Amino acid sequence: MTLDENKMEVLAQHHMLRALLVNVGDLARQVAEGDGAHAELLRDGARQLVRGLLSHMADEERLLEEMHREGQAPDAEHLAAFQHNHVHQRELIVSINARLESIHATKRLGELVEALTHAVTLDMEHEEESLFGTPPQPLAPAEVTPMVAARA
Ligand SMILES: [Fe+2]
Ligand SMILES: [Fe+2]
Repeated sequence: MTLDENKMEVLAQHHMLRALLVNVGDLARQVAEGDGAHAELLRDGARQLVRGLLSHMADEERLLEEMHREGQAPDAEHLAAFQHNHVHQRELIVSINARLESIHATKRLGELVEALTHAVTLDMEHEEESLFGTPPQPLAPAEVTPMVAARA
């Protein structure tokens, strides 16, 4: 793929993940504020988010390594910083994923998932800025059916 195609693929995946992050983040806030009826839906949404993030990170590594090998951005220093950040992000995601299964207090579950969505959203903005020099949030979240409505 060309540089632009690789960049667009990364940004397109971010675009879809942002929609999921907004959706799961909204549900997490409701649960954190006491809406225990949607706790299991939130747990499912968080699992979906974890799978989506891990799969995205693997795709992104492949795309950026290909761009680097072909002499395109990112340079070696950027690529190393990016891989280093992914190590930390994977640790965070995997540890939160393990806690998803063990937390029974619904407010605490909501707070945990809300914290995950905030952390991932910020990481994504920083990643776009450092890799592509684009301003944060170049696109509005894609339209998706809210999780609560989808299950109704
Ligand atoms: Fe990433
Ligand atoms: Fe990313």
